[in-house]
Amino acid sequence: MAKGIFITMEGPDGSGKTTQIELLKESLEDKGYEVLITREPGGNRISEAIREIILNKDYKEMSPSAECLLYASARAQLVSEVIGPMLDKGGAVISDRFVDSSLVYQGIARGLGVDNVFQLNKFAINEYMPDVTFLLTLPAEVGIARKKDQKELDRMEQESLDFHRKVAEGYDSLAELFPDRIQVIDARQDIETISGLIKKRVYDILDGKVSV
Ligand code: TYD
Repeated sequence: MAKGIFITMEGPDGSGKTTQIELLKESLEDKGYEVLITREPGGNRISEAIREIILNKDYKEMSPSAECLLYASARAQLVSEVIGPMLDKGGAVISDRFVDSSLVYQGIARGLGVDNVFQLNKFAINEYMPDVTFLLTLPAEVGIARKKDQKELDRMEQESLDFHRKVAEGYDSLAELFPDRIQVIDARQDIETISGLIKKRVYDILDGKVSV
């Protein structure tokens, strides 16, 4: 078993994960932990190259299974090159998205099935499952509107509102499937409140008050 702590942040597009990751990193570093932040798909040379393919808005014909396998490939490289070694040496890893994104976007919203997608991903993640996952929830309309204000939308973000509603509902069902690991947080609360909830749970785990 890995010695470090593996924290993942999930939620629909535009739910504010990045801000919360930065706040948690600062807090953990202040307490002396070595912290590595990573994002999916990406986080190293090869996975960033795969990301370019996956999110390229010209590739509208990409099949759901090809999409699922590409995300899993990017994840496999990230785990073997970055996440695994950091956890093995006792550090903290905070990942902006991980396997739950595939379970929801590909398993539920694309309809490939949560079990199928999980089986396939077991090959990619090599038993490195998150100790805790924070799910920042937001109505689909709000998330996409926030994204549109920030940048040009990528292939996934250009999907229909119906798709993004399935994602939001998919996350809710996933949280019910893994209630011990996934903590649901309403992303419409203010930044400090959300950050406080996240830190409390992480420090409870690190202090051994909550088993993982
Ligand atoms: P990105 O811009 O990094 O997402 P965000 O800023 O919203 O977190 O783009 C990643 C996109 O890929 C996002 O729309 C979610 C999607 N995705 C999947 O469909 N499956 C996956 O396994 C992962 C990791 C992401």
